[in-house]
Amino acid sequence: MEMTERAPELRRMEIEVIKAAFSRVDDVDFDNIPFGKIFSDHMFVVDFLENEWMQPTIMPYGNLEMSPAISALHYGQAIFEGMKAYKGADGRVRIFRPFDNIKRMNKSAERMCMAQIPESLFMDGLTQMLSMDSEWVPSQQGCSLYIRPVMFATTAEIKVKTADQFKFVILTCPVGPYYPHPVKVVIEEHYSRAAEGGVGSVKAAGNYGAALYPAKLAQEKGFDQLLWTDAKDHKYIEESGTMNVIFVLGNKLVTPSLEKNTILSGITRDSVLTLAKELDIEVEERKILVEEIIDGCKTGELKEAFGAGTAATIAPIDLISYEGIDFYLPSVDANSISSVLLKMLTDIRVGKSADTYDWMHLVG
Ligand code: COI
Repeated sequence: MEMTERAPELRRMEIEVIKAAFSRVDDVDFDNIPFGKIFSDHMFVVDFLENEWMQPTIMPYGNLEMSPAISALHYGQAIFEGMKAYKGADGRVRIFRPFDNIKRMNKSAERMCMAQIPESLFMDGLTQMLSMDSEWVPSQQGCSLYIRPVMFATTAEIKVKTADQFKFVILTCPVGPYYPHPVKVVIEEHYSRAAEGGVGSVKAAGNYGAALYPAKLAQEKGFDQLLWTDAKDHKYIEESGTMNVIFVLGNKLVTPSLEKNTILSGITRDSVLTLAKELDIEVEERKILVEEIIDGCKTGELKEAFGAGTAATIAPIDLISYEGIDFYLPSVDANSISSVLLKMLTDIRVGKSADTYDWMHLVG
C-alpha cells in the first residue's frame, strides 16, 4: 500500500495566542540540560472534531484535561514525531527537515486511521511558537531544541473502532545529547519489535511501549539498547530501539534497507547516507545478517557502528553483544567516519556550512 498522499490543506485559520504570564527560561541551566524533562514556555494545541481541524491555539505549557475513556488510552491510537531546531552563530533559529517529519507523521496517521495534519497548520503553529520561544533554543555545542509533535485519539468511547476525534499537540524542550557516552548494544535473539505487515515503519506510540520490557532486561545486564533483529528468524539486523543503525564494513557504509516496512525510515539516517555519498563513501542499503556483523567484529572488517536518529543524532556504538559474548569496537576519534559525518551535519544545522540540500527551514 502506498501511503504518501499529502494532507488536504485547510482554510488558514488565525492561531489564537495565550501567552505565558512569565517565562521560565532564566531558570534553565543550559550547560546541563537533561534530555526531555524541561519544557519550553508554550505548546501548540489543536483538535480535530466533526471532520475538521478546529481553532488552533498556542498556550502556556501545562496539563490537558480529557476523559479517561479516550481511545488513545485504551487502544493505542497515538503517534508522534521527533524533530530538532538549532541556533547558529548568527542567532537565527533553523528547523531541520520539518517537511519530511510532517510527511512521515501523516504516513503514521494513515496507518493508524487518524486524521491527516495539513502542512500549513503544522508549520504555522510550529514556527509561530518557535518565534515566541526562540530564547529556549540552545546555542551550546551539541544542544538543540527537541520538538515533539504528538497526535492521539480523543473519542471517548469504549467500543473498538476508528476514532473520529483527535488532539494534535507540539511540545518543545531544550536538550543536550540523548546518549552522552558511546552506546553498548545487545543483539536481540528472542523478543521482536516489529513484524512484516505490522506498524514498525511508522511512529506509533505503542512500538516504544512494547519495546520497554526487552530493553529493561538488556539494561539490567549493563547494555544501553537492543539491536533488534527480524521477527521471523532473528537472523537479520533491523534497528536499535531509539535510532536506525549504520555500520562501517570495510570501506562501505552499510545499513538495513527499508523495503520490508519493519524499520523506521529515519530522517537522520537518510541525511547521513546522503552526506556519505558526498564523501564518495559507497553506501549499501540491504539485508544484513547478524552473522556478517559478528564476523566483522572478529576479523576487524567492522570498523564502526553507530545509531542515527533525531534524538540520538549520530551515536557511536562501542560494544555489540551476541550470544553472551561481548565484542568491543575500535574507539572513535575525530577522523572516524561517524565523527566526520556528525560534523558535516552539525555545520549545516547551525548555518556554518552551505545548506546544499535545502534541509534547514529558517524561523522568522
Ligand atoms: C527521536 O529520535 O526523535 C525519537 O522519537 C526516538 C525516541 C527518543 C523515542
